[in-house]
Amino acid sequence: MSDLVKIFDTTLRDGEQALAASLTVKEKLQIAFALERLGVDIMEVGFPISSPGDFDSVQTIAREIKDSTVCALSRALPKDIDVAAEALKVADAFRIHTFISTSTVHVESKLKRSFDDVLEMAVNAVKHARNYTNDVEFSCEDAGRTPIDNLCRMVEAAIKAGATTVNIPDTVGYTVPSEFGGIISTLFNRVPNIDQAVISVHCHDDLGLSVANSISAVQQGARQIECTLNGIGERAGNCSLEEVAMIINTRKDQLGGLTTNIKSQEIYRASQLVSHLCNMPVQANKAIVGSNAFSHSSGIHQDGMLKNENTYEIMTPESIGLNKNSLNLTSRSGRHVIKHRMQELGYSEEDYKLDELYDSFLELADRKGQVFDYDLEALVFFNNLQDES
Ligand code: KIV
Ligand code: ZN
Repeated sequence: MSDLVKIFDTTLRDGEQALAASLTVKEKLQIAFALERLGVDIMEVGFPISSPGDFDSVQTIAREIKDSTVCALSRALPKDIDVAAEALKVADAFRIHTFISTSTVHVESKLKRSFDDVLEMAVNAVKHARNYTNDVEFSCEDAGRTPIDNLCRMVEAAIKAGATTVNIPDTVGYTVPSEFGGIISTLFNRVPNIDQAVISVHCHDDLGLSVANSISAVQQGARQIECTLNGIGERAGNCSLEEVAMIINTRKDQLGGLTTNIKSQEIYRASQLVSHLCNMPVQANKAIVGSNAFSHSSGIHQDGMLKNENTYEIMTPESIGLNKNSLNLTSRSGRHVIKHRMQELGYSEEDYKLDELYDSFLELADRKGQVFDYDLEALVFFNNLQDES
């Protein structure tokens, strides 16, 4: 089995469908270019049957993107698949993604059908999509809550019908990592033709476990993770791309040598673009891309960082495309941090008295919280003025 975990980005489909206001075609194209630079293997860019606007943006992106496979979503219905294929056919490489629910609650309450009917629809949909392309993905919606015997039957039938990727979504973010990993390993043990398709996972974050569940799944043999930038998506969102990419990057040894094609230095830039265009601020303490992710506040941590950055950083800010980490100047910062910052600002030790500056810094930090470079410079200026008078 390959060590490469394919990254299937769905920022422009699952992510976009959760926004208060839709993105314009131009905005979607801008994000698609950022995803291409980032190195995603597949980008899912819309649901063409859902609106003429969505059809348009899928077609525009399909025409422009060259280095990633462009994918569009369709229900397990021939007309959805026809419209998706029509929008995608201008692409160099495209994938049709068709899905149907498999959990009992969805089959009985939402679809109001029997499981056998749903199985037949799935098989017909996959066969229909194969008339347009050899790259067909089938998803078992709400797989996380699907009885395992039914899930095994569905996966086997979808592969037999021609699905080249079979996706196992935890649609409502219900499972825990050991359980979700267990579902994937059961599929590998029980589905006889499983090695004829790539097994994919698509986890939602309702319990904050989407990333952990996705990692647990790749440890059991899944080789595609579906995710979004900044984790945007339905309700609490989807598995976050930057987190899984950096976990696989940073903990490669622990994960048996797994890799992705993500160019991690593009992460920060792409994350900022999505946040800005989607009007979705990134929380300050968000892993990898939050504004605090590479900043250090406590005096003990700052002291450690000045001695050796490995003390409190497990990856470098440069590895995600940020210029450098930052030491927040607060009342917890020590003298040596102030001295270091003054050096960075171009001051020599003769230009100010460290003890005096540090006392006035502490006084200001207690009043104001964070002290910025311009505050430090003002303190030096006023202290020197007082000393002269
Ligand atoms: O969450 C989900 O199940 C989905 C499917 C359409 C893959 O988004
Ligand atoms: Zn989803």
